[in-house]
Amino acid sequence: MPDQMRVVTHLIEEPGLHDIETYERLGGYEAVRKALLEMEPAEVLHEIEESGLRGRGGAGFSMGKKASFIPQGSMDKFLCCNADESEPGAFKDRLLMQKNPHQLIEGVIIGAVAAGATKTFIYIRGEYALQAEILDAAIAQAYERGYLGRRILGSSYDIDLVLHRGAGAYICGEESALLDSLEGKRGNPRLKPPFPANQGLYQGPTLINNVETLSNVPLVIKNGAEWFRSMGTEKSPGTKVVSVSGNVQRPGNYEVELGIPAREIVYGLAGGPLPGRTIKCWFPGGSSAPVLLEEDLDRPYDFEGMADAGSMLGSGSIIVVDDSVPIVSVALRVAEFYRHESCGKCVPCREGTNWTVKMLERVDSGDATPMDIEIAAQVQQNIIGNCLCVLGDSMAMPVGSMIEKFRDEFERHIEEARTRAGRMSVEAGFAAEPHDAAA
Ligand SMILES: Cc1cc2nc3c(=O)[nH]c(=O)nc-3n(C[C@H](O)[C@H](O)[C@H](O)COP(=O)(O)O)c2cc1C
Ligand code: SF4
Repeated sequence: MPDQMRVVTHLIEEPGLHDIETYERLGGYEAVRKALLEMEPAEVLHEIEESGLRGRGGAGFSMGKKASFIPQGSMDKFLCCNADESEPGAFKDRLLMQKNPHQLIEGVIIGAVAAGATKTFIYIRGEYALQAEILDAAIAQAYERGYLGRRILGSSYDIDLVLHRGAGAYICGEESALLDSLEGKRGNPRLKPPFPANQGLYQGPTLINNVETLSNVPLVIKNGAEWFRSMGTEKSPGTKVVSVSGNVQRPGNYEVELGIPAREIVYGLAGGPLPGRTIKCWFPGGSSAPVLLEEDLDRPYDFEGMADAGSMLGSGSIIVVDDSVPIVSVALRVAEFYRHESCGKCVPCREGTNWTVKMLERVDSGDATPMDIEIAAQVQQNIIGNCLCVLGDSMAMPVGSMIEKFRDEFERHIEEARTRAGRMSVEAGFAAEPHDAAA
């Protein structure tokens, strides 16, 4: 689309970009040369910190600050690129890896310099077979050209990069579960603190960043922190690749300046809902974000704007739900996903996701009462903040927000399901159907 920003995606239309020759011809690996041959590691870190680049994988934490937490010293340090991208609604890392793998590799190398890491990994979700193949070939080319391996470009840096394929578990995108999985164990989240910057892979200091975060790093080093800060807002600088899906006319990935009204993305770029339809709600940051309403589309699409609206930018994946979709189906689908993906380690998440699915199934079939909706809302409140990692919250926040914002529709849904089944209304029905009520 003509209105799109082209920053981290500026080269992706170039044919053959995944080949190192094309990438180098277009200025690729210049940032690595600059970082390794013209700058001290502290300067590289400083530039990243000054840019204000925030994590694009979910939490939005400053990359520079996180890298600065890595302790100095001669112990082995690691960098892991999180390419698990399993959040429903997110498909922007796939694009960046498939179209411009060398930009990510450059980001990994420069990130390793900033963190003092010598061993680096890209943990890619198992389902991304094509992207893994492309990255594998690109990494081999980077070794051949001397951007990876011993004494890179004649400097004193030794950096290795390993591509590791996951086996299809959403929880392995959570950074500490990713580390366990990388170590060959079952991918279960670890208790934090200690955070990975202090004790990560094989207990060593580890910097973990998302694909999009690292893909921005060569641009920051090449063009400078001030250039990066000239885009976006003061607290959310830069751009965001936004995956838009659901009930829109033009689903896809769109790069935008952070801070533009969300309406420009949903209507301007993605074409808005299908003719004759209106927007019921939208997830601003993947399926784990609390839903927002149509009027919230005028808020700035950045970390602060979405938090002020009571939701979050998350991975920057917008899912639009139009008025043809029953909200109960959306809530049920979300709950089913998180129940399936819960690792089962802690009770509020393991039991809470299961109970939520069961209660929503009852709402869907008309076997619930309005009181059950209240209980379902309370279950969500009891999950939030009480889990070992935020997977439990990732179900409770959106489901809780749907119950809160669409309670009337939940109640209507029960009545309509009962009417369809030829049963009495909730008001009169339960006295006459004691078996149903007990169920
Ligand atoms: C359940 C769960 C799943 C996650 N999945 C991903 C993922 O697929 N990709 C990702 O980059 N971050 C994911 N995260 C966030 C990571 O834990 C971590 O914050 C992120 O990789 C840090 O990179 P960033 O600072 O560059 O965003 C997930 C977090 C949780 C709790
Ligand atoms: S919140 Fe869920 S996924 Fe996270 S540790 Fe607990 S059971 Fe596992």
